[in-house]
Amino acid sequence: MYRIGQPEIDAVARVLKSKRMFRYGVTGGECIRFEERYSAYLGVKHCLMTASGTNALTAALIGLGIGPGDEVLVPACTYMASAIAVIAAGAIPVVVDIDESVTLSPEAVTDAIGPRTRAVMPVHMWGLPCDMNRIMRVVRRRKLLVVEDACQAVGGGYRGRKLGSFGDAAAFSFNFFKNMTAGEGGCAITRTEAAMKRMRCVVDPCSFYWTGRTEMQSSFLANGARASEIEGAILNVQLDRIDGMLAIMRRQKSAIRKAGEKAGLTMSPMHSPDDECGTHNFFLLPTAAKAEAFAAAVGGTVARKTGRHVYTEWVQIFAHQGAHHPALNPFRLPANKGCRMHYTPDMCRQSLDILDRTVFTANHPDLKAVDLAKRIKTIRDAAAIMT
Ligand SMILES: Cc1ncc(COP(=O)(O)O)c(C=O)c1O
Repeated sequence: MYRIGQPEIDAVARVLKSKRMFRYGVTGGECIRFEERYSAYLGVKHCLMTASGTNALTAALIGLGIGPGDEVLVPACTYMASAIAVIAAGAIPVVVDIDESVTLSPEAVTDAIGPRTRAVMPVHMWGLPCDMNRIMRVVRRRKLLVVEDACQAVGGGYRGRKLGSFGDAAAFSFNFFKNMTAGEGGCAITRTEAAMKRMRCVVDPCSFYWTGRTEMQSSFLANGARASEIEGAILNVQLDRIDGMLAIMRRQKSAIRKAGEKAGLTMSPMHSPDDECGTHNFFLLPTAAKAEAFAAAVGGTVARKTGRHVYTEWVQIFAHQGAHHPALNPFRLPANKGCRMHYTPDMCRQSLDILDRTVFTANHPDLKAVDLAKRIKTIRDAAAIMT
């Protein structure tokens, strides 16, 4: 979805020529500059760059103090890393249904809250914002924490506010497939200094040393997942590109949506069409067979069949293989004994039905008008066969 060009090459060359690729010990460095700019862009207080989105999610959860004894509600449709991060924090993921918007169902969240539930993880899949107003209402009423997984929604918003700024913490990915990329990378954001201190400890247990402070910032150890100045340099350029790119894709999506509806197709409901990323178009077909046929006709993908975004594919979680050693495995920890950890293939039937009937196609900022017109014609032709 991204664009890469000469400005990124120049930015990386500048860092290489400076021979200062480590984020600490550099005045006005690229990572610091990105963290400040991205926080301002999102309207949040604290941002910390990481080596990946999974690292960022893990740091966000641990930053908020989530760990053994806690359940975190995660949606049935997300990349497995959402659930992996919960396990990496020592907690247990509880899988809940999505609705036709392909995002976390607020009703399912309400129903799934149990005595051990500590947090909810709304995942803004494929750049689609969750219904944050409704989710936040439920969550605040029940005094739960919210960690937004905005890894697939860089630059997206919900009703005028940037995704990632709703929860107590959030995570973004800058891997090769995301709206902004440095090949790999990520960042965690949060509102409070206390959570940020813990996040710093997860991302770099020695950050106190590099920043020349004498006091320990936190009292626990972690693996570390620092970002480099090269990641920072690329992302500073990518941040200049994001709004323009998403605006183009939103226009493409709007054109495809209008054409689809006119042709009698049902488009998946959206919670914030003007603010979402616009990276993908979603069609809701009446049956799985029709979805298969429509996907084949328009060169789309059935959402159930990406091979990596449905809970039924989370083999290690089903098998309770949560760590490399049984003593470290959250599924075996005494503190997690009362948590719900019985996973079955049919536990989220509503999600499977919706994902079987949902087809998506991708937009691209460099798509020419003539090619967009061809895509729209293909969709119209396919709709004619469907009805
Ligand atoms: C929804 C979601 N969460 C988390 C991640 C993890 O990000 P990363 O691959 O940077 O670790 C991804 C990556 O694809 C993702 O799509």
